[in-house]
Parts: sequence; C-alpha cells; structure tokens
Amino acid sequence: MRNLIRGLVLFTAAGIAAIPAISIAADDPVAARKAVMQSVGAAAGLGGGMMKGEIGYTPAAGKAAIATLNAAAHTYGDLFPEGSDLAADTTAAPAIWDNRAGFNDELAKFASAAAAAMTAAGKEGPADLDAFKAAIGPVFASCKSCHEGFRVKN
Ligand code: HEC
Repeated sequence: MRNLIRGLVLFTAAGIAAIPAISIAADDPVAARKAVMQSVGAAAGLGGGMMKGEIGYTPAAGKAAIATLNAAAHTYGDLFPEGSDLAADTTAAPAIWDNRAGFNDELAKFASAAAAAMTAAGKEGPADLDAFKAAIGPVFASCKSCHEGFRVKN
C-alpha cells in the first residue's frame, strides 16, 4: 500500500511536470513573459553570434532570428496584468505599472524596429551580414533601452 501511494505521488508529479509550457502561459503571465524573453534572448544569441562571426551567416538564419523577435515584440505587452508585479520571481520593474505609458513607448519602439527588420528581411532573409546588421541593429537598441527603465537587476 505504501509503495502504491508513493507510486501515485510520483506519477502525479511527473504528470504535472509534463504539462506543456503553453498551458502554463495562459494563467501564469510571469512564466509566459519569461519564456517569451528567453526566446528573444535565443534569437539575439543567434543574431549576435553571426554578427561576431562565431556562427556562419545564412539569410534563412537571419530571417529566423528577426521573425522570432518580431513575434515576441507584438505579443509581449499583453503579459503584464495588474498584480503580476508582485511575483517573487520577476525582474519586471514596478515602473511598468507606475509608468505604463513609458513602457508602452518602449514596446512600440521594439515592435516598430522588429516590423521594419521583417520588411528589410523580405521573403528570403537579409542577403548578407551587412544587410542583416542594418536590419537588426535598431531591434537590439530597443532591448537595452527598455531593460534600463523597466527591468530590475537581480
Ligand atoms: C519593452 C521592454 C523590453 C524590451 C524591448 C526587451 N525586453 Fe527583455 N525583458 C523585459 C522585462 C520587463 C523583463 C523581465 C520579465 C520578468 O521577469 O517578468 C525582461 C527579461 C529579459 C530576459 C530574462 C528572461 C528570464 O528568464 O527571466 C532576457 C534574456 C531578455 N529580457 C532579453 C532581451 C533581448 C535580447 C531583447 C531585445 C532583442 C529584449 N529583452 C527586449 C523587457 C523588455
């Protein structure tokens, strides 16, 4: 009986751990916005790696990095409902809720830079590394300016 109970507990724990990230996203805005920023960080890592010559540049990879940033830029602002500033595991600054207009300005800069990069990328992606740098540069500038005002260091 004891083993049966232990087995059930383990089974249940495994089941909970296996819930796809997407269903966590629906009712956990902190987890969702972290996941979105992690995809942004991965795309920036790919882009930065190509810019430094650590990863060989291809137009398809350039396009993938830009498309990921663009998708994030257009959904990110929805993940900051009232009350989600109190979460223990967030590095979102209180300024997001105290100065929502300022935060929205940063979101708009991020979204418009990403949309312009998508247009510059065209169907095939930026033709060469110089074209990629020109397209993604303004998107990278928006990371820093938003983090400075709206993210706390931990
Ligand atoms: C409009 C504001 C804004 C922009 C633009 C922005 N970020 Fe963020 N970022 C945030 C906030 C706010 C957090 C903290 C979220 C939290 O902890 O709830 C964050 C967190 C992160 C994290 C940590 C995620 C984690 O696991 O906790 C990474 C990595 C990151 N950002 C990378 C980037 C990169 C790279 C860019 C640019 C391509 C970027 N961000 C653009 C606001 C922004």
